[in-house]
Amino acid sequence: MRVAGVDLAPHVLGILFADGRELELHALQLRDSCPCPDCRHIGTGQRLLETSAIPLDLTLESARPDTDGSGVVVEWSDGHVARFAVSLLAPAEEPARTLWDGTLAGSLPEAAYHDVLARRELLAQWLAAIDELGFAVLRGVPVEPGAVCEVAELFGHVRVTNYGRWFDVRTVADPLNLADTNLGLGLHTDNPYRDPVPGVQLLHCHVASGGGGETVLVDGFHAVEQLRARSPGALALLAETEVAFRYESPDAVLVSRQPVVELGTRGVPRALRVNNRSKRLPAIPLDRVRDWYAAYAELVAVLTDPRNQLELLLGPGDLICFDNERVLHARRAFAGEERLLQGCYADRDGLRSTLALLRTEAQWATA
Ligand code: OGA
Ligand code: ZN
Ligand code: ZN
Repeated sequence: MRVAGVDLAPHVLGILFADGRELELHALQLRDSCPCPDCRHIGTGQRLLETSAIPLDLTLESARPDTDGSGVVVEWSDGHVARFAVSLLAPAEEPARTLWDGTLAGSLPEAAYHDVLARRELLAQWLAAIDELGFAVLRGVPVEPGAVCEVAELFGHVRVTNYGRWFDVRTVADPLNLADTNLGLGLHTDNPYRDPVPGVQLLHCHVASGGGGETVLVDGFHAVEQLRARSPGALALLAETEVAFRYESPDAVLVSRQPVVELGTRGVPRALRVNNRSKRLPAIPLDRVRDWYAAYAELVAVLTDPRNQLELLLGPGDLICFDNERVLHARRAFAGEERLLQGCYADRDGLRSTLALLRTEAQWATA
């Protein structure tokens, strides 16, 4: 990548890249990211400059691309000068995110366990699918106690909770949780009563049921976009209203307050918390309560639209790994009592970190 030209105004530097992309940076943002050895530690790359000490009236005096376009030399109104290499200026790549619906059933993101163990590029592809689509299937995971944790450790650390390092989902005589019955479970995200909520969930099938027990997955971010298109006010209300979620058992009292839909500053969905079993009440003035319930019902209507649902039948050795705050999961009721899944949680940052490292490795390999 090269810099093709710059456009200077007192507070803003416009940069035109050779590939046609453009970027605008404020004088204060540029100074905050100054790479010179006074502002940034050479060994660690971490900032030495105290951001809050940057004079707010700072402006740009000059900006000049290197003759070969490999960087830009900038001078500010206080006389500070620095060179920004083009790699420091290139616009950050947005994480790839592809929204999907039930038609994805024809091209499920999946891999075989022995392949992702043997070949790092296949592990990278499997993780990239989880990052982009919010889930992927892994086949042929040995049906051994805790094997689900070994899969989590291919990319991160197991998030231990009061359910342990991993948990069994099976029918028990005296259930603490509806999951431990053979009833169906409506679409949900797990553990919205934790703070923070586990970002990644893995479910590994050991024993399939004699009949039923299918898994249903829905892209919650796609549902948010559908709700935005049909009812923007409903989405806004869900995003601005905190709801309490609660789980209580003999060994834990877990309470957290978060909106059902969390939006980033530019309106992009960041997380959903949908769990009818643990949801308590929305914190909202009385005159908006009815509107909130109507908005929630609209969201659930979109989520449960059959066109949005992907149905899978997990067999022994099959595992699904999914973004627990993007992809909702449900299970159909089943017959008999022998069905057994093992699950565990992990964090999204570990998955993205491993994916980034594997991609860098692949770049070195092809360079
Ligand atoms: C759960 C759950 C899925 C299943 O335990 O939270 O969603 O298929 N289980 O049993
Ligand atoms: Zn500097
Ligand atoms: Zn669940």
